[in-house]
Amino acid sequence: MQHSGLVQTVQVPQPCVMVIFGASGDLTKRMLIPSLYELYSAGLLPENFSVIGFARKEIPTAEFRDSMRLAIGQHCQEDFLKSGKVNNFLDNIEYFTGKYDDQESFHALGKRLMEIDAEKDTGGNRLFYMSVPYEAVAGIADNLGKCRLNKPVSDDSWTRVIFEKPFGNDLESAVSLNRQITRYFREEQVFRIDHYLGKETVQNILVTRFANGIFEPLWNRNYIDHVEITSSESIGIENRAGYYDHTGALRDMVQNHLLQLLSYIAMEPPAVFDAKALRDESLKVIQSLRPYEPSEVRSMVIRGQYTSSVIKGEVLPGYRQEEGVPPDSRTETFVALKTYIDNWRWGGVPFYIRTGKRMPTRVTEIVIHFKSTPYRLFTDVDDIAQSYNQLVIRIQPDEGILIKFAMKVPGTELKVKNVDMDFHYSDLGDVDLPSAYEKLLLDCMLGNSTLFIRNDQVVASWEFIQPVLDAWKNDSSIPLQGYPAGTWGPECADDLIAGKDFKWRYPCRNLEGEGEYCEL
Ligand code: BG6
Repeated sequence: MQHSGLVQTVQVPQPCVMVIFGASGDLTKRMLIPSLYELYSAGLLPENFSVIGFARKEIPTAEFRDSMRLAIGQHCQEDFLKSGKVNNFLDNIEYFTGKYDDQESFHALGKRLMEIDAEKDTGGNRLFYMSVPYEAVAGIADNLGKCRLNKPVSDDSWTRVIFEKPFGNDLESAVSLNRQITRYFREEQVFRIDHYLGKETVQNILVTRFANGIFEPLWNRNYIDHVEITSSESIGIENRAGYYDHTGALRDMVQNHLLQLLSYIAMEPPAVFDAKALRDESLKVIQSLRPYEPSEVRSMVIRGQYTSSVIKGEVLPGYRQEEGVPPDSRTETFVALKTYIDNWRWGGVPFYIRTGKRMPTRVTEIVIHFKSTPYRLFTDVDDIAQSYNQLVIRIQPDEGILIKFAMKVPGTELKVKNVDMDFHYSDLGDVDLPSAYEKLLLDCMLGNSTLFIRNDQVVASWEFIQPVLDAWKNDSSIPLQGYPAGTWGPECADDLIAGKDFKWRYPCRNLEGEGEYCEL
């Protein structure tokens, strides 16, 4: 985890207590506590700050603190560990054994919160973090409400609640979940995390677009041929079969992270830079996505699942061989889709999204493919097949921006070739990018909901996804394509783009897996 680079620019939040539901889980160790510690070390947490880890397991506080110390050791910068602040930080953490469906546990939690307010002067400010499976969320919200923990303690204090994705499992469950949450919490108290929006380079999409005069005039159907969004991962599903097998890549990545990226690329400039204006514009994009007809799903949305392969002599298991995955699972680990945004700016411009597990490398990038020149002057001397300019926005890793354009090759001959103009964040010097969770936790404590997802955005993105889920469920003849682990996904995903001089951009060479492509 990287050191917070936010020190110079942000305020320190008011004193508060953060309650983590699901504290014995992986996210607490991997992300939440290390991020809080980074903020603490950087002086960005209030002096009066406390964490209560709430979960079902019986764990003594001392033991919980030890496991958090270990987590900090694994995930935080070494400099911070050497600073000797860890013990002071851990003193502010305690563990609370409770049941999510038991009101008594919540009464007891309420009592403990009052005690902490009195002991540590935390001002009655509360942040509830739901790091639990989505089935448990409504019950917790309900119990918080019934024990009046949803309401601010006084006129001067605040109570906020953070939800992790998934926000439901389909359109119906998302609507119902929201209904349950809003019985007790007002929308402005609710912070839905999509950690992609906390990524520095995702926020930079807006700055690139709206702080520069040169891009916006070209940013439309007249100059852009198509847009490609790729988010590939080299890892498999690790030890998450329980979650992943009933989720799949469409729900896990497309419904949230990648539609959000698409909305940042495609939105109109907001009138002002605030939470409402920005989220209104993002919502309009998602609402303008052309709905799929059931008959279109087969050709416009490709699903795949990785199969076993051998990479550099190492055997990689197929998805069905991963621990906890049923041997006949039809869950997709890869999705590639083509969609259109039906509005004036984007009418007729295809947007392609591709994501998958066990691909050759971990990379997230957006490629804007511009149209070619109206006619080609240098046809005889052009040693490139066509001269389409590309703007590549690299979200991770090696964050930066690349523009591809044609130049004369130096020399007496007239030769033209494509060259790169490259900017890497690392060129700015010793910049430490804050992790997404640091940024989002801090924003929530400060009450800034700009980078959080509003309920109507959640519903709109499920509305777009639902016809695909329905078609896959109802029409078993829609193929699930196998792709050898370590490759760029099923071959037929190439056909989505191919046919017009174009193909997906491959950010690195194929690792040449030895498995077979096949239909599963
Ligand atoms: C999570 C998904 O939301 O995002 C994971 O559940 C995925 O399956 C992860 O691996 C990717 O996030 P990042 O920040 O590593 O791109």
